[in-house]
Amino acid sequence: MFKIVKDNVKSLREKSAPVDLPLSKEDKDLLMEMLDYLKLSQDDEYAKKHNIRSGVGLAAPQVGVNKKMLVIYYEFDKKIIQHVLVNPKIIASSIKMCYLNSGEGCLSVDKDHEGYVYRPNKVTIKAYDVLKEKEVTIVARGYESIVLQHEIDHLNGILYYDHIDKVNPYKKLENSIEI
Ligand code: NI
Repeated sequence: MFKIVKDNVKSLREKSAPVDLPLSKEDKDLLMEMLDYLKLSQDDEYAKKHNIRSGVGLAAPQVGVNKKMLVIYYEFDKKIIQHVLVNPKIIASSIKMCYLNSGEGCLSVDKDHEGYVYRPNKVTIKAYDVLKEKEVTIVARGYESIVLQHEIDHLNGILYYDHIDKVNPYKKLENSIEI
C-alpha cells in the first residue's frame, strides 16, 4: 500500500495534470486502491493496527501522483456517499458559504490548524465518474460540498489551512451556515 504525502513535500503544492480518457488501467487501479484505503481507514481496528488516520477523501497528489483524480467515501444517515472522479471542475458556486464548526482536517496535515474554512455551500461539478463510467454533473451541498472542494483544492496545490484567516481564525462570516 502507498504512503500518504505530507504537507512538507513540495509536490503537494503543485498543480496536477489533467488525466487522459479513456482511463488507463494504471490510473483506475490507483483510484480503486485509494478508495480501499479510505474504507480501511474508517475501520477502527485496522486503522489502529496500521497506525493510520481516518479519512473521508483522498486526492491523487496525496499518494504521490500529480494527476487530477480524487476519491471520497463516507457514510451519512446510513447512506454511503462515494465519488471516484477524474478531471473534476467546479462550474458554479453559491454565494452562501458554509463551514465545519470543528474545522477541517487532512490526511496530509499532521499538525492541527484551528479556525474556520469557509467554502461555497453549494457547488456544481463536472467530472468523469469512474464508477458510472461517464461524464457527470454533481450538485453538492453542505458537508458533501465541503469534502469535494477540499479534494479539488489538492489538485491545485491548495491546503485547507490556506483558507483560514491568519488574524482572526474564528471570524464570523455573514451569509454563512455552520455544518
Ligand atoms: Ni486533504
